[in-house]
Amino acid sequence: MKKNSAIEETVLTLKKEIQEHNFNYYVKDDPTVTDSAYDDLMRKLEELEKQYPELITEDSPTQRVGMLSNSAFNQVSHKKPMLSLSNVFHEDELAAFDKRIKTDLGVESINYAVEPKFDGLAIALIYEGGFFSLGATRGDGFTGEDVTHNLKTIKSIPLKIDTKSLPSRIEIRGEVVMFKEDFLTLNKKQEELGQKVFANPRNAAAGSLRQLDSSITATRPLRFYAYSIDFEGIENTLTSHSDSIKLLNELKIPTTDLVENVTGVVGLLDYYHEIIDKRQSLPFDIDGVVYKVDSLNYQDELGFVSRAPRWAVAHKFPAEEAESQVLGIDVQVGRTGAITPVARLKPTFVSGVTVTNASLHNEAELLRKDVHINDFVLIRRAGDVVPEVVSVIKAKRPKNIEAFLMPIQCPECGSKLKKEEGEAILRCCEGIQCPAQRKQSIMHFASRKAMDIDGLGEKIIDQLLENKMINDFTDLYTLDLGSLEGLERFGEKSSKNLIESIHKSKETTLGRLIYALGIRGVGEATAKDLAKEFGTISNIKAQTREGLEGVDDIGPTVSGFIHCYFNDLKNLDLIDRLINNGVSFKEELRKEVKFVSEISDKVFVLTGTLPTLKREDAKQIIEQYGGKITSTVSKKTDYLLAGNDAGSKLEKAQALGIVILSENDLIKWTEE
Ligand code: IVH
Repeated sequence: MKKNSAIEETVLTLKKEIQEHNFNYYVKDDPTVTDSAYDDLMRKLEELEKQYPELITEDSPTQRVGMLSNSAFNQVSHKKPMLSLSNVFHEDELAAFDKRIKTDLGVESINYAVEPKFDGLAIALIYEGGFFSLGATRGDGFTGEDVTHNLKTIKSIPLKIDTKSLPSRIEIRGEVVMFKEDFLTLNKKQEELGQKVFANPRNAAAGSLRQLDSSITATRPLRFYAYSIDFEGIENTLTSHSDSIKLLNELKIPTTDLVENVTGVVGLLDYYHEIIDKRQSLPFDIDGVVYKVDSLNYQDELGFVSRAPRWAVAHKFPAEEAESQVLGIDVQVGRTGAITPVARLKPTFVSGVTVTNASLHNEAELLRKDVHINDFVLIRRAGDVVPEVVSVIKAKRPKNIEAFLMPIQCPECGSKLKKEEGEAILRCCEGIQCPAQRKQSIMHFASRKAMDIDGLGEKIIDQLLENKMINDFTDLYTLDLGSLEGLERFGEKSSKNLIESIHKSKETTLGRLIYALGIRGVGEATAKDLAKEFGTISNIKAQTREGLEGVDDIGPTVSGFIHCYFNDLKNLDLIDRLINNGVSFKEELRKEVKFVSEISDKVFVLTGTLPTLKREDAKQIIEQYGGKITSTVSKKTDYLLAGNDAGSKLEKAQALGIVILSENDLIKWTEE
């Protein structure tokens, strides 16, 4: 059949019209056609595209549904990491945040952009040449999963945007949520069909985005709200977060209309209370509000700490509480030997999930709260953290209460429990000699963010330990197919898969390996920081406690734990055995020092806006020449690189007699 330009024209008009209706319905919440008129338009377009397949374009609304993922959750590495936000819960913490920012910038008051904190899933959308080309989940912040096929089913996400004079690659970040009402309807439907019901709208949204078949996702009512946009040269186009929101609106990308601009702590608190009042009536769940320094220049100057921007904070709502009854109290031995009393509860529904256990933290807390078995208690659940017992409802105290005494021996290995000086926590100090700690250290070692050994769950570890096939995590690498034979409920295929994933895990990064060792106080971020700072195990081993404290976020307590760990022969032996069993890692030196220069190891602080260099470029130059960058001026600072509008940092540096450099000085150095 011969196509003519009139048909082409019709197809184009239909596409535009349908997208316009999607926008009005899903973004503006102001439908402009009836459902049947909309269906008619879709049908017309489908028919024409069937007749003239060459007219099908990737941004056609017919291309939203039914795509199978051809890239089943491929890994996507984020160009810039998707970070998290630090939290504040109380006014004094908020005041401290505002004060820190003012001091760091040396200004009197700060203008903030404020918005709700969506309780959904963080997503990045990439548009290339105007077309939606890739969508990914946050994952661990550095690498997420490709869920483009599913995101395409969300009708409020445009498949094409009018990028006008913007650069070709645009990255938009935001949150996918499910409306509360849609969630209830979905669960009712699921229940009727005898299918899985979801605990809350966030889980429902997450489950829907993790479908291989996008025609399932298409039946799930998901929404997207953007909260950031980024592209090359953004600093020359936009000056504030509010500008970004305006631009997103111009591009017809959904944002919430709850974004406002306020000044100072009073403004922030007013907004917080305003949103608390609106919370119930909002269509989606939120778990707090987010405050962002509005000026992009200031944001740049404030920069980041390892996990979160210093220019933003989430003010979380108080956690939800409910009444329950203590049926019993158990003690658990944690990975590092901490003994935690845990209340077994009458199953109770709190903010969307059924809670059956709640932490009592430690003996002192148990006594302070005066919790007895059979007591009625108030329990609290905040976000995803383990629920806790807040207080006993004394007025309802029954006659049959029973006191609980903390054990004096480890419930798992029988050793005598100890309390460290100044610590409230009772510990079993047997390390991996204690079966509970041994098992948990192996579970931790294999976990996703550590060595990521797929398929090595708790049950298998139990069996491997019971059958004495392994004694600690280093032995995992001695297992082979033959040795797994005879494990209960473990067929040939699963054995093969497990051996394969153990084998695969051997090639790792230093950060993961350090995290996997399970050193007390060393979480994922600290492990990564250690790896970046020191590059090798032997470098870390050689550090004094002070040397370790040079790493962001490592204070005296954690430096003590790390130092102690690497001075214990048993631990060094574990590491040796891992390496001998074939574990290898990429070195991760952050500071790729390309030139040895007079600024090697000198400590720099940057402030103000540089006349020509971008902050990131200046940092890169300094690091390439071996300099170190920190964020606060102190006696340890060697140089302050100051640009325009430098505030309190400049004053402080002058007072301390620190050498002040201009961008020109830096450039001259590099030319010498
Ligand atoms: S800004 C680097 N704004 O909260 C800045 N995040 O803890 C980080 N979130 O998973 C993001 N609502 O997806 C920002 N209005 C909002 C948000 C928001 C929800 C999520 C975000 C991330 C988490 C950060």
